[in-house]
Amino acid sequence: MKRTLVDYYKEFLPLNSNTPQVTLGEGFTPLVKSNNFSKEFGCNIYFKLEGCNPTGSFKDRGMFLALAKAIENNKNKIICASTGNTSASAAAYGARYNLETIVIIPSGKIAVGKLLQAMVYGAKIISIKGNFDQALLAVKNIAESMDIEIVNSINPYRLEGQKTGAFEIVDSLGKSPDLQFMPVGNAGNISSYYKGYKEYKEKKISSEMPVFYGIQAEKSAPLVDGKVIQNPSTIATAIRIGNPASAELAKEAINKSKGEFLKVSDKEIINAQSLLANKEGIFCEPASAASFAGLIKKINSGLDVKNRIIVCILTGNGLKDPGNAEKYLSSKIIKTSPDPKSIQNAIYTGKSTNFFKRIF
Ligand code: F0G
Repeated sequence: MKRTLVDYYKEFLPLNSNTPQVTLGEGFTPLVKSNNFSKEFGCNIYFKLEGCNPTGSFKDRGMFLALAKAIENNKNKIICASTGNTSASAAAYGARYNLETIVIIPSGKIAVGKLLQAMVYGAKIISIKGNFDQALLAVKNIAESMDIEIVNSINPYRLEGQKTGAFEIVDSLGKSPDLQFMPVGNAGNISSYYKGYKEYKEKKISSEMPVFYGIQAEKSAPLVDGKVIQNPSTIATAIRIGNPASAELAKEAINKSKGEFLKVSDKEIINAQSLLANKEGIFCEPASAASFAGLIKKINSGLDVKNRIIVCILTGNGLKDPGNAEKYLSSKIIKTSPDPKSIQNAIYTGKSTNFFKRIF
């Protein structure tokens, strides 16, 4: 029985007889067809639920391979800079395979669930007065001299593992989607998907590549603005990055697929996050909702999506960042005594808890 990404995609992964098996059950995430928005927009929208990975984000797809290669190369420590998800993933795999995990995070800008994950898995957590870009620079400076393996997406094995997301999409649709929307922070994941679709095309498993839309947050949009952003800011802390490490590969994905980098405001992100929750039953984190926000923006500005197959990559689970969602709830829990009459009355007259207001 095939159980792991390696079982399925071995021929596409850089493995050899010395590579140990490393897995926490990553991958094989659901590709769920939109129930309400496909109808509303007259197209076929699918959501790739990467929040269903073992630590709640797509990072696990790349982390299993980065760890396998680190162990193969006799490393006993791993390090990463992170806006939260990479650190959660690294810490989980580090714990499981007995590697010390060091994470460098920007102080005060990590969603509470992600920080908690890194803590419970037992990482050494170092918080800096600075942003992700500064944390990554520090990691690059110290990793080599201290003989610690970097498990950020500048580690090529991370991208190799993450490209399995593209394989899964083609395998379940039977072909590539027409369009793919995904959030872009350090620009590793879009580069991985591009690589994955390209390899499937080269092997003639699919005949086309999707058109890529890389979505950034308005005030953290170096690839849209065409310049490094010194002080990026956004509610979507996962993609609060001003100087993406894989910028060149990401640009290639956009140019070769005739796609586009696009920026969305924090308000559009929250709106999209709320629509996904209220209308599709999908609770993803703000950065992930940026992909759907980008799709809405393109549709509103006239992109013809009629009958197209569109995939939005929802990169991380909404439960990682509960505080953020809570801020935008538009009504409160109804309080009542336990007698059936009061409860009945509350059902008749009370308002449902609602997340933000629909703004488009
Ligand atoms: N979505 C989520 C939920 C993320 O955590 C990230 C990146 C991205 C999208 C963007 O992916 O960087 O490959 O372009 N998070 C990294 C981290 C930076 O440290 O967890 P990218």
